[in-house]
Amino acid sequence: MSNIIAGQDVHMKYGGVVPELASRAHQQNIVPVVEMALREAGISKADVTAVGFTRGPGLMGSLLVGTSFAKGFSLAMNIPLIEVNHLQAHILVHFIGEAGVEKSFPPFPFICLLVSGGHTQLVLVKDYLDMEIIGQTIDDAAGEAFDKCGRIMGLPYPGGPWIDRYAREGNPAAYKFSRPSAGGMNYSFSGLKTSFLYFLRDAEKSQQEFVKKNREDLCASLQQAITDVLMENLIKASEKTGIKEVALAGGVAANSVLRNAVSEYGSGHGWRVYIPRPAFTTDNAAMIAITAYHKFLKEDFAGQDSVPEARLKFGV
Ligand code: KG4
Ligand code: ZN
Repeated sequence: MSNIIAGQDVHMKYGGVVPELASRAHQQNIVPVVEMALREAGISKADVTAVGFTRGPGLMGSLLVGTSFAKGFSLAMNIPLIEVNHLQAHILVHFIGEAGVEKSFPPFPFICLLVSGGHTQLVLVKDYLDMEIIGQTIDDAAGEAFDKCGRIMGLPYPGGPWIDRYAREGNPAAYKFSRPSAGGMNYSFSGLKTSFLYFLRDAEKSQQEFVKKNREDLCASLQQAITDVLMENLIKASEKTGIKEVALAGGVAANSVLRNAVSEYGSGHGWRVYIPRPAFTTDNAAMIAITAYHKFLKEDFAGQDSVPEARLKFGV
């Protein structure tokens, strides 16, 4: 009914998320954010039938704030408490219905490429709460590759959206960066980041202000390399499973070139493609609510002894 996000601009200043500052900001924001969500939905606390919260994966300090708040709210209002896995929630955005928006939900089973700042996974989605990882990164996540390379180029944090923006004016074929593979349907991005770093370091030695002068081409070429790598295993996953229902999720799914690549390949190969609108690709509250809703229907409730898990596994 409402989808409120408290941004944490504080991390931009430090070039990344500082866990200590993140948990303080959560502590400060949680009550005002809940109040705003109720106000925007036009309901009161007493109208709420259950409270869902992110149990993990994520930063422990931030998870603790949400978990404790949700427990208190559940106890005070005498309503069920529901644990949500952050990664499952990213995928279930595909089932958020919006008033006045025509939307088709993916039928099960479908394949979802989940690409965020912390995760890069190919997921076989068999049901709302039945998902299997069929490929994943063995080191850095795709978003991490964007952000670390952005940092190397001196872009603000997170670098992903900036790279997307600069790349629009650049040539994706200007530089050829390696397209690492980790075998099977797994990914590896740490080599790309290292080779990017060495390439820029050498180039800066031979040409003054190389990065500044070639920023658009560098961004476009890097973005193309990451997209090619992501597409390769997504195509493999579809071929191997025979599934042509293909979805994107997670912060990196906001990337314009990745979105186009999936749509274009899909329309040439009989895929039905599901891409969330950008507000539902990055972390948001609605994705937690839709997951909690499906657990609510199954009466899958948590107790007051529930604990957050920084490295919570899929499907838990
Ligand atoms: O899902 P998300 O909001 O948070 C995590 O759970 O990690 O994903 C954040 C990630 C960051 O790495 C950010 O750089 C990336 O998503 N991102 C993008 C774009 N927008 C956000 N990466 C590439 N292109 C974009 N347009
Ligand atoms: Zn996320």
